[in-house]
Parts: sequence; structure tokens; C-alpha cells
Amino acid sequence: MTATPTRSTIRWEQDETGIVTLVLDDPEQSANTMNEAFRTSLAAVAERAEAERDAIRGIVYTSAKKTFFAGGDLGDLLKAGPADARRVFDASRDIKRALRRIETLGKPVVAAINGAALGGGYEIALAAHHRIALDAPGARIGLPEVTLGLLPGGGGVTRTVRLMGVTDALLKVLLQGTRYAPRQALENGLVHEVAETPEEMLAKARAFIDAHPESRQPWDEPGYRIPGGTPAQPAFAANLPAFPANLRKQLGGAPFPAPRNILAAAVEGSQVDFATACDIEARYFTELVTGQTAKNMIQAFFFDLQAVDSGRSRPRGPERRTVRRAAVLGAGMMGAGIAYACAKAGIEVVLKDVTEEAAARGKAYSEQLCAKAVERGRTTRGKADALLARIRPTADAADLAGCDAVIEAVFEDTALKHKVFQEVQGVVAPDALLCSNTSTLPITDLADGVERQADFVGLHFFSPVDRMPLVEIVKGGRTGEEALARAFDLVRQIGKTPIVVNDSRGFFTSRVIGRFIDEGVAMVGEGVEPASVEQAAAQAGYPAKVLSLMDELTLTLPRRIREETRRAVLEAGGTWHTHPAEAVIDRMVDEFGRPGRSGGAGFYEYDEEGRRSRLWPGLREHFTRPGADIPFEDMKERMLFSEALDAVRCLEEGVLTSVADANVGSLLGIGFPAWTGGVLQYANGYAGGLPGFVARARELAERYGERFAPPALLVEKAERGGTFTD
Ligand code: NAI
Repeated sequence: MTATPTRSTIRWEQDETGIVTLVLDDPEQSANTMNEAFRTSLAAVAERAEAERDAIRGIVYTSAKKTFFAGGDLGDLLKAGPADARRVFDASRDIKRALRRIETLGKPVVAAINGAALGGGYEIALAAHHRIALDAPGARIGLPEVTLGLLPGGGGVTRTVRLMGVTDALLKVLLQGTRYAPRQALENGLVHEVAETPEEMLAKARAFIDAHPESRQPWDEPGYRIPGGTPAQPAFAANLPAFPANLRKQLGGAPFPAPRNILAAAVEGSQVDFATACDIEARYFTELVTGQTAKNMIQAFFFDLQAVDSGRSRPRGPERRTVRRAAVLGAGMMGAGIAYACAKAGIEVVLKDVTEEAAARGKAYSEQLCAKAVERGRTTRGKADALLARIRPTADAADLAGCDAVIEAVFEDTALKHKVFQEVQGVVAPDALLCSNTSTLPITDLADGVERQADFVGLHFFSPVDRMPLVEIVKGGRTGEEALARAFDLVRQIGKTPIVVNDSRGFFTSRVIGRFIDEGVAMVGEGVEPASVEQAAAQAGYPAKVLSLMDELTLTLPRRIREETRRAVLEAGGTWHTHPAEAVIDRMVDEFGRPGRSGGAGFYEYDEEGRRSRLWPGLREHFTRPGADIPFEDMKERMLFSEALDAVRCLEEGVLTSVADANVGSLLGIGFPAWTGGVLQYANGYAGGLPGFVARARELAERYGERFAPPALLVEKAERGGTFTD
């Protein structure tokens, strides 16, 4: 909804002692955002504060909403194109000017942060002399703009640099976009105090005002120096090598301009006065807002994610249910992780394996994760012990009595999976939800081995389960709506993001990531230098290099799946299109005995502990041909296009039913580069839009093979001037 600029979104409440509370409270929105109405209201408040200065003893920012302040108006930012640059720049400058007028009034200013203060919310708080955070459950504080391809353009870069120094501002706040819980925010210097109750918070605010009648910001004190020095000074230069490797990677070749702009705004801004720094910040902000990457990322990480999490793909009918007691079958890598995720969400878990020892080893994984979380202050010992007490390892199927959900994670073997379901289906609750974590076996076929087929559904977790936010729910041919809804509710119950897809070999995620890997491997087969292939993946923005990923998954796994798929396709009377990657994989396994990391050798060499050392020199000897190099841009786009085109085919075939699921699934599950906004948004946002994407696909098809030919659905959409949206 577009804001009406005339309404006031800040209430002025002045008490008899002269303390003015500025209550952030947009009457037309559930959360406060930096919309036009807010900008107008803030300017009006600044003007009144100056006019009535003598009657004011202090100012408190707080909010009447559950969140203190939600940040920028993302819907508005999504619409800003290059032609809006002036307007975007002015808006950023106006906010900062108004905040600055209040900050320099000569009166104490306190932020009473009563809930989440992310982005714009924390920027308002930064313009206060004293910040008190209420320790509200789930409240988070920080500047996560980078995760949306933006930078904090409301003074966030300028003030964090002056508050904590260039290095800390970059590493702790700006470049990773960390969202801190109130106590962590205190430890890291983002706030000055934490309060347990709203009353305590306001009392602390008043106490600060009483004690500091003429408060100023540190940077407005005479003789102020930026902590740790500035890049022009030797102390800063000495710190630069300490920038972690992942940061250098973040700043690397991918067309992801936000970290670079943040770094530039921080470094350049630290060498000039406050007002000039604000203008530098606004300039870099404007460049990001009016560019394509921020739009991709806002669309995916905000709008698509919200659509997915809020249940767009959940069947409407069935009532919401919660799982109380879950049976996890198989305590290997995945089962152990699933048990931890469930127990963390308060679910009682019975973790079953073939022996007590194997089950206990699975629980030991949770013990390790808990110990680490306690050590890092992310949880308390008491909470960790309670979590662990909820996991009961066993080898006895009788212990599964009363479980209202079963999640199977035994070896990837149809007959074994059938056997374990036979074993437990008479023991668990008669209407228990039945899930398999298979990563490759069709759910419809697996359902043959269970009695209540309508209650059977695929629940595909990603490794490592505790860190991966996505779960792919797979609807088999006979899966009922009720089971689908319950699976969705279970995934939300454990705090993960569910996408829903229809059954197909490899579902959506495994199938599409397979295209990426095949493309990288095919290039090795064409004679391209393997190190260049790896470099192309990194520069396209993939978090994992392609050949190293192949090694992790093992080369024998895709070979087995490929053989099974080929057989199924031919049996169904279809045509099998041989992929050039197949010959490379066959030679690697059969001729050179290099099946991947678990086998001790693959595209890379490994030491005794399984650590990757270097690319196997034999690759150059057996595959690389001088002069076989292809343009770097083609290498990157072959990887990106192979995935995006297959996602379109998934949509065409009905494997995917939602664009948001495709984008979110590709970003959170299989590492499709974040700057693209997801597999289908990549096509939408490609230079020239979908027609540009189609033209480029045809060019790649001509040069590298028919697999790049644009599917009919894509061509049709491009011709109609459409985009991929739900
Ligand atoms: P794993 O080999 O680490 O663990 C399998 C466990 O199942 C072992 O502990 C084994 O003792 C146990 N098991 C075997 N027979 C059993 C029985 N009759 N009753 C109870 N437990 C039994 O395997 P992992 O990697 O955990 O994979 C498990 C499943 O998850 C497979 O279907 C796999 O395809 C799938 N998956 C794996 C992913 C991965 O990244 N490894 C990702 C997503 C799914």
C-alpha cells in the first residue's frame, strides 16, 4: 500500500517534566517503515523540537508497535528504477537531515528499543545518544541491508563507523548483516543497556536524561577520533589483513555490488566530516537501490520468502496441527540432524537405529551442537539439557508407541525403506504422518511399501540440517491433502522454510543442482582448464565450486541415478539425451578409480584426513586441450542457464507449482547465487528481460548443445511480455 504523505506516523507526547516521547506509530500499517509519511513526520518533529527547544528536557524514541521499526519500505524500493535516482538520493538525505537535527539539539536523546530494530529501525536508534533494548523474545537488532543487496542509507554506515571504528563496523554489523539478540547486541556494542520489562526500559531512559542534561554524540565532542583510526592511518592498515577469507570471497568477482558499496561508503566516509559522509553514503545507497541486484534480492529474500513461509503452497482445508512426539528412523548424518532440529523445537524425539550404540552416536551429535551453542552464548546450559532430554535413542521399535510423526532417514535403498516402515507402522499412532527423507527415490514408488499411502509424503532435508533453512516437501502420486498440510505445519514448527513440489526423480532441488554440476564437468570434458571451471563458478557467485561439489556428492551417485533414470525413460518409450558430463564421470570412476572425496580421490586430491588439497594434475593430462578455452562469460552463464532452464522445465512439467517456491528453494537449498534472486528471478532480471534471456539461451544452444534451447513456456512468456510471477 502506498502511504498517504499527509498522515502523521510519529506521536509527540510530552510529560510535565519536559521529556518528549516520540512514539513511532504508523496508523495505516502494522509495522513502521521509512515511507514517505514517515519522512514528512520526522521532518515536522525535528522542526517542532527546534522551535520548542527550551521547553524540552530530553527526547525518547519508542514505538507503539510490536517491532520498534521495520526498516525501509521495500515495496517502494522495488519500484525505483534508474530514473528515480534523484528522488531516492533526496529521501535518504532528508531522513538523515531530520535525525541529525534532533541528534544535535543539545538535549539528551534516548532510543527505547521495545522490539526488533533492523535496518532503518536501528538507524533511528543510532541517532540517539543512548540505546536501551528490551529483551523481548525474538527481538533482533542490526543492519541486515546487505542481505537484500542494499546498504543502510539512513546514516547506518556513517554512524556505525563513528561508533565502533571502520573495521568493527564492517565486520560486526555492515558486511554480514548479522541480526543480534538484545544481549548479543549489548556485548557487541550496538546498544548500551538491556531492560527486562518495558517499565524498566522507560525508567532507564528517564534516568539517562536526568544524568545527562546536555548529552552529545561521541562524534560531536571536540577532538573526537574514529576508534581504531581511519584507512589513512597506519593502525587501520595493520588491521586490514585480518579481514576473514569469507569476506574477501563476498567481495570477490560475483556481480554483487552491495558489499563493495558498503566498504567504499565506510572507508571514504571515515575520512571526511559527518555531513559529507552522509552524502557519500546516500550516493552509494542510491546506486544500489536503482540497480537490478537489490530488486532481485528484495523480491526473493523478502516477498517470495514471505509468500512461501506464510503457506502459499499449503492446502487450505486441513486444520493446523502440531507434532508432539516424532520417530526418527536412522541415526546417521541426516537422522541425527533431524532429531536435533525437532528436539530444539520442543518435540519429543525417539531416535531409532539398528543398535543402541548407533542410536546413541546419533544423539551424541546433538550433544556436540548443544555444547557449542552454550559455549558461544547462543543458549543456556538449562535449555540445552532440556533439549537433550527430549531425544531418546533406541534400537527397539516398541519405543515408538504414540509417535504422531515418523521421519525415515535410513540408507538410500527402496527395499530397506519399505522394511522399516513395515516395522513401525503398527506401533506408532494410528494416524501418524509418515515421511521419508529420501533425496533421490520417487515418493510414489516408496509409497508402495506403506499401508496408509495417503499419509505418506517426502520430507527432503538438506545437510547439515541444523544450518540449512530449507525443507522440500514432496507430494507423491497418492499423498493426501491432509498429509501435505501436516508436513508443511511440521516444517514450520521446527522453524524451517518449506517448499512444496510434485514427485519427480530428484524432485526439484536435486534435479536442478545436477544440471549445474553436469555443466561444470562437461567443460572439463571439452578440454577447458579445470581451475578455470572452478573460478567461473566462484565468479558467478556460487558458494561452492562445481568440481569440489561433485567430489562431495561422489561421482558414483549421479551415475547410479542417471542409469535408473535412463532405464525409466526408455521403458516409458521416451528418448534419452546423453549429457557430455556422463563420459567424463565414467572415465573418472572406471579408468582412473577416482569416485570422489569419500573414496579418497576425485577431481581433487585428498589427504589422509579427507582434507581437500589440490586439483588432480591428471585432469590436465587426460582432459585439458590447449586452445579449448571458451569465453569466461559463457562458462558462468552455462552454469546459471542450465539451472534456470531446468527450473522452467520443472514448472512446465508441474514438478513446481509456484515461482516463489522455485526462487526460495534454489537460494536456500542448493546455493544458486544470491544476487540473482533465485532461478526464475534470474531469467526475469536478465539484461533485456525474458526476451534477452531467450536470445542468450538460443545463442548458448547453438554453441554448446540443444540442452540450452529455451522451453516453450519460456518462449511464450517472453513473447507475451510476461515474467515469472505467481
Ligand atoms: P547415513 O549412512 O549417514 O545414515 C543411515 C543410518 O540408517 C545409519 O546410521 C544406519 O545404521 C541406519 N539404518 C540402517 N538400517 C536401519 C534400520 N533398519 N533401522 C534403523 N536405522 C537403520 O545416511 P544419511 O546421509 O544420513 O542419509 C539418510 C537418508 O537421507 C538417505 O535416504 C539419503 O538419501 C537421504 N538424504 C541424505 C542427504 C545427505 O546430504 N547425506 C541429504 C538429504 C537426504
